[in-house]
Formats: sequence, structure tokens, C-alpha cells
Amino acid sequence: MRSDMQRLQAVIFDLDGVITDTAHFHFLAWRELAHSLGLPFDEAFNERLKGIDRMGSLALILAQGHKRYSEPEQQLLAAQKNLHYQRLIETMTADHLLPGALEALVAVRAAGLKIGLASVSKNAAPVLDRLGIADRFDVVVDAARIQRSKPDPEIFLSAAQQLGVAPAACLGVEDAVAGVQAIQAAGMFALGVGDPAVLVQADEVIPGLQAFRLERYLGPPTALACCAPPEGAAPSA
Ligand code: BG6
Ligand code: MG
Repeated sequence: MRSDMQRLQAVIFDLDGVITDTAHFHFLAWRELAHSLGLPFDEAFNERLKGIDRMGSLALILAQGHKRYSEPEQQLLAAQKNLHYQRLIETMTADHLLPGALEALVAVRAAGLKIGLASVSKNAAPVLDRLGIADRFDVVVDAARIQRSKPDPEIFLSAAQQLGVAPAACLGVEDAVAGVQAIQAAGMFALGVGDPAVLVQADEVIPGLQAFRLERYLGPPTALACCAPPEGAAPSA
């Protein structure tokens, strides 16, 4: 942990891309909408939408064309995409938990720490239900409860406040660049999940939660200075 961090009291997880992989469902739903409007959409573009809220994602897709859409039209398009997305996530079960996700939640709880969820998805609650892990979180903050989306720190700060824990005693876990920026802006330790070359602002990056080692973040900073990164972990930047 960084030397400016306090003793760890809570871990706040992002949902999409960290605990479960909903990116493909978002991809299918956005692609259908984009193509119905005559706009291009592929996996590479979908990558840019990770961590971006629904209306922000729609704005990026529409910006590829020349047609302007009124606010009510945009709301309608977003609702259309969301209906499709909701149909797709109905197929989700506990099998859609990413490797190591359940084990990470169990380890954090066993260590007596609090657990928060900070997701800009308005579908976070049904997804948690489908995965069968809703009761494992002390606090769930989603897009419906915040004013400003990631990279603004609001969602992580709100989770910490509701958990009753100082930001400097929180570890945030994120797969998106905007999410890592939000954690850093909140004054928390930022653990990135994914590619260190992409998540350059994270304090540390692991390839997935199967490489999450809670003990690494529990001790005082001096005790960790001697430790080599765990297998699969890479310091960023
Ligand atoms: C984020 C995803 O978690 O939620 C984004 O990474 C998505 O891709 C965003 O756009 C909003 O999701 P929803 O379910 O509110 O449309
Ligand atoms: Mg994410």
C-alpha cells in the first residue's frame, strides 16, 4: 500500500469487468442499436465504453454520425438498448462470476473488512441478484444514487461514506481507466484489473481477481516494502 494510506478497512469493487463480464452483453445491445441507425460498431469501440454510463456511451456512438438527436430521442434510444440488455442479462447465473471473484469477496469478509460496490450501471442490482451475491455487500452505490459518473470520485466517496470508512482506508478495484481515475481522485488505493499498459494510473494491476491477495494490502506500509508482487501482479507505470 502507498505510505499515505491508512490501515485497510474496506474494499470497494466495481462490478462490470471485475466481478462479472457484462461487456459482451453491452456490446450486443449497443451493436444492434448502432447498426439500426446506420452507425459502425465493433469490439474495439465497445472497449471505449467500459466504465462509461449509459447516456455517455450513447453520445459517443451517435457522435460517429452526422445526425443530431433531440434529448427525448436520445432517451428513447437508450431505453431501447437497455431493454435489449435486460433481456440478455436474464440469462446470467452464478456461472457468470469471473474467476476469483467469489473467493475475493469471501476473503475480504473473513478478514473483518467492509465490502462496497461502486458501479455506474443502473442494472447493478439485478445483476448482483442473478449472480447470487447481493447479500455479500454492505453497501451498493449505483448510477441511480449519484450525480456525476466516473472518473468523478463521487461514487467511490459515497460508498466509503455509507460504509463509515475514511477514503484513505479503502482499496478500490476497477477494470476501466475512468474507474481507476475515480479511485485515485477519491484518495483510495487503486487496484486495477486488466492490462498494466492501459491502467497506467493504478497503484497496482492484476490480470483478474484470481490474482487478488488480500494479505498484501492488510499490513502496515513498511511491512510490504520488502514484498515482491504476487504471481501475476504487475506494478503499473
Ligand atoms: C458500466 C459499464 O459498468 O455500466 C458500461 O462498464 C455501461 O459499459 C455502464 O455503459 C452503464 O450501464 P447500464 O446498465 O446503466 O446501462
Ligand atoms: Mg468496470
